[in-house]
Amino acid sequence: MKISSHNSDHRIPLSVPHMSGDEPTDVREALVSQRLSSVGSNVTAFEREFERRIGLPSVALASGAAAIHIGLRLLGVGPGDEVFCPTFTSAASANPVRYLGGEPVFLDSSHQTWNLDPDLLAAALRDRARLHRLPKALVAVDLFGQCADMDPILEACAKYGIPILEDAAEALGATYKSAPAGTLGHVGAFSFGRNKIITTTGGGMLVSRNPDWVDKARFWSTQAHARGIAFQRSEPGYNCRLSHTLAGIGRSQLEVLDSRVDQRRAIAFRYRDAFADLDGISLMPQAPYGLHTNWLSCFLIDRDHYGWARDDLIRVLDAAGVESRSVWKPLHLQPLYASAERYGGKVAEDISRRGICFPSSSSLPLEDQLYVINQVRQWLGAAPLTDLEKARKKRKRRKDRGPSGLACAPLPPPRTPRA
Ligand SMILES: Cc1ncc(COP(=O)(O)O)c(C=O)c1O
Repeated sequence: MKISSHNSDHRIPLSVPHMSGDEPTDVREALVSQRLSSVGSNVTAFEREFERRIGLPSVALASGAAAIHIGLRLLGVGPGDEVFCPTFTSAASANPVRYLGGEPVFLDSSHQTWNLDPDLLAAALRDRARLHRLPKALVAVDLFGQCADMDPILEACAKYGIPILEDAAEALGATYKSAPAGTLGHVGAFSFGRNKIITTTGGGMLVSRNPDWVDKARFWSTQAHARGIAFQRSEPGYNCRLSHTLAGIGRSQLEVLDSRVDQRRAIAFRYRDAFADLDGISLMPQAPYGLHTNWLSCFLIDRDHYGWARDDLIRVLDAAGVESRSVWKPLHLQPLYASAERYGGKVAEDISRRGICFPSSSSLPLEDQLYVINQVRQWLGAAPLTDLEKARKKRKRRKDRGPSGLACAPLPPPRTPRA
């Protein structure tokens, strides 16, 4: 693995679609069949195949945000309700609470997982029970490809009968104690957005162990049109079903999910190995309870150590033709949610200040990975690497901190969902 020179016109993107190769056939078939509406065989087939993969009844929607919106409505969230949500996440996790007339209450993350801190959640629920102001629901988010620590979260919520929506938009393919991400709450939401591990260029899936809820979600997603009764409406619905054409892309993409997980993990571990001789730069923690897909390769930069800020690195990489990105800005720091109540927030602020996502596309050529690595090493004042395999072996000798990026364990089979 020798470094090759880099063409200065060539930009390295953060995360782009990686086609399986079969998508043109699926799209052409959809066009030829003239079934371009949202009610087509691809949609039903995609839902069945997703259900086989995940183990829960599924309904294909136009986006992950639509799945969260409908999922929260299924959980009974309405005007005036409060919903607990991590502060360290995409605004798409919390915005649907407002669509329904509710208000999010934000909770901090743990440094161990970057996801919701279960101890803080338990304390916040105790506090709310004392105040007789329990939230209507919890949005538990699986960030950057890693599940939240769901068992203590489920336990804390079960104590007060709080239902959970698991936002697994970023974590398709991840597992928690061998259960697929997105299957641990009462409702799960996934995204097939452009930069996700598999993509339909835009799309989402809602899953639930309750098939009646999945049917209800399907009904709402097609303008709540009651079958057989011409244009009769008794409930407000939405227009957010996935199209037949895009579902065809989803079917091909789902077939390559496992290899996309392996490829994303390999990139993250390759970066980790290449920075192993440097202090002050570390890969996002890999919690021992499951498989982290490393959808995005996220690292923490220790500002004190280098006297440089993470944003300087983003600028330097940009000038070198490399797209990187800061991790999420906590929602309690967003003007949109300035008035929202919260429990803690310092951990999210710390991760947000220091976190960076490096190019992570599963199609990223090795020479581009090496280019990124050496741009970062140069910024940190370290010698460039010419041979990654040597770096990997050296790191393994120094300290075995986990699995090698070059060999990934196969995904465990889906766990039967709990009753
Ligand atoms: C954590 C999280 N939740 C929800 C969403 C929304 O998904 P979509 O973009 O498909 O609406 C995203 C999208 O990036 C996300 O990162």
